[in-house]
Amino acid sequence: MNGLRKKRPIFFCDREAIEPSVDDLRLRWLCRRDFGALLALEREAFEFPWTRDEFERCVRTRNFGGFVVERGGEPIGYLCFEIRRRSIRILSCAVAEAERRRGVGTLLTRALIGRLDERRSELVCVVRERNLTAQLFLRSLGFRAVAVRRGYYLRTNEDAYRMTYRVGGASSTSDDARTRRRILSR
Ligand SMILES: CC(C)(COP(=O)(O)OP(=O)(O)OC[C@H]1O[C@@H](n2cnc3c(N)ncnc32)[C@H](O)[C@@H]1OP(=O)(O)O)[C@@H](O)C(=O)NCCC(=O)NCCS
Repeated sequence: MNGLRKKRPIFFCDREAIEPSVDDLRLRWLCRRDFGALLALEREAFEFPWTRDEFERCVRTRNFGGFVVERGGEPIGYLCFEIRRRSIRILSCAVAEAERRRGVGTLLTRALIGRLDERRSELVCVVRERNLTAQLFLRSLGFRAVAVRRGYYLRTNEDAYRMTYRVGGASSTSDDARTRRRILSR
């Protein structure tokens, strides 16, 4: 059913589109050529952005994957993840400031939710305690905070919330068509 089970590293799925374009947005697999744009998105979004080395390390691991949303050929948001035995973990997700609140983050995350199945039925994201926007965003998608990780971020000694989305959970019934409608109606 899904591309996550392929034996080859999923990162190398090239610029293949995942879904037909909606509006002028295109959702596709992330690839190495995106690194420049990703680093810029990271810098705009995070106090401690990932470096090129960190991205390089990630893509060398077998279980790494990512999606990009582009508008007019320009990446405006991305999400990368790690596949585990029973779950998928969101490693990073960011949308360009000027493109926020238009459903781009939802489009990216729903693409991952759509790849959960009986075997991998949980999506996990660890979020900074101060990052209320991310918490509200994940909550809007049906994630729930299930644990607190004290002092998780070593540089700032900040706590983190572990938030999870479960297939079959109370709020997992929204569908992609609704996401598309939201985007088209902006
Ligand atoms: C978190 C982030 C990825 C959300 O992306 P986005 O494209 O703006 O999200 P969406 O437009 O799909 O928002 C979906 C819902 O999330 C909630 N939400 C998103 N941003 C919000 C905000 N600033 N305040 C309150 N609720 C918010 C809303 O319920 C929103 O629905 P609505 O616009 O109909 O009210 C984006 O704000 C971002 O890049 N932040 C900086 C990086 C970051 O914190 N990443 C962690 C991601 S887990």
